[in-house]
Amino acid sequence: MAGTSDYGLGPITFPRGWFMVAASDEVTQTPLAVRYFGQDLVLYRGESGKAYMVDAYCPHMGTHLAKNTTSYVVKDKKQVEGENIRCPYHAWRFNGADGMCNEIPYSEGRIPAAAKLKTWPLVERYGCLFTWHDAEGGEPNFDLPEIKEWDDPAWVRWTIDHLGTLPCHPQEVIDNMADVGHLGPVHGGPPEYFLNRIEGHVLRQFQGGTHRTLEVGALLETNTFYTGPGILLSYFNGDVGLMYIAHTPVDDGVTKAWHAYLYKSPNAVATEEDVQVARMAQAGSLEAFAQDFEIWANKRACFNPLVVQGDGAFGKIRQWYKQFYNPRAQEQKFQALANGEYPVRGMPTHNQRVA
Ligand code: FES
Ligand SMILES: [Fe+2]
Repeated sequence: MAGTSDYGLGPITFPRGWFMVAASDEVTQTPLAVRYFGQDLVLYRGESGKAYMVDAYCPHMGTHLAKNTTSYVVKDKKQVEGENIRCPYHAWRFNGADGMCNEIPYSEGRIPAAAKLKTWPLVERYGCLFTWHDAEGGEPNFDLPEIKEWDDPAWVRWTIDHLGTLPCHPQEVIDNMADVGHLGPVHGGPPEYFLNRIEGHVLRQFQGGTHRTLEVGALLETNTFYTGPGILLSYFNGDVGLMYIAHTPVDDGVTKAWHAYLYKSPNAVATEEDVQVARMAQAGSLEAFAQDFEIWANKRACFNPLVVQGDGAFGKIRQWYKQFYNPRAQEQKFQALANGEYPVRGMPTHNQRVA
């Protein structure tokens, strides 16, 4: 498996940033086993409804906190109590917020300080749960993207498509942002114009073309941007729809991905009929994304694209991506090397059908 060091991205294996870890509706009072950043983790919801993510293994004797069906802790539904999670082996109980063990049912002795689970920060937005990952342990220095449409009743909220894991490094997914040359062959949508713009943590792509998969006869214009390394949003034709793609490293060279689509109905408050149309629109958007996904699922790693005239700025996009794999102290240096606008030689940078 080709990993971060093979791509020469930097000394930090898993990037710094906000990452999706689950859809909101997957996380309940039944603990859920997940794996990200090379670590086994557990997600659960406390009785208050708040979600928590903790290390999967109990500090007592290493039991997995979610992978059990036969212990009476599980059968008697004692796994989640208040905001706490209880281990199925000897029933030690841990708080999800600070990770501290706060009950050992059979012991009257002092609870040792080492009886503590590592906890991860979680934020719940637009039907998803996100964690902030920083191998250096720093606080977030940029925010999740705002999606004001989520709370607008004219828009139909998405349901998350779970795409599973790809046996490839997220670099291959990020490359898509520069990849003007695949739009015709893969999507049937050769662009009429194309531009990348890099501003700090944000990587943008503007393009417009017709699109066979989405059956758009007129120009389909997209305004697509990554906020940090793992969350992509793409506005279709101004604001008729908003595509969401999230991807999170599972192991070095293994990536989990999700897709969704927010649909703007013609009504002030979306109707039941609009919901049906939205589901069809999401299925169409997913079909287009699946065309990229099939390529990634089967390609070999590409450490150095063999770039020709007419290709997009793969080098600049990879330069942008390096900021997340290097110590934060060097972030501005990496940003300065990547910031700017990158047109494609021989192609307009904006829609020439309008003035
Ligand atoms: S291993 Fe978890 S309580 Fe003993
Ligand atoms: Fe694509």
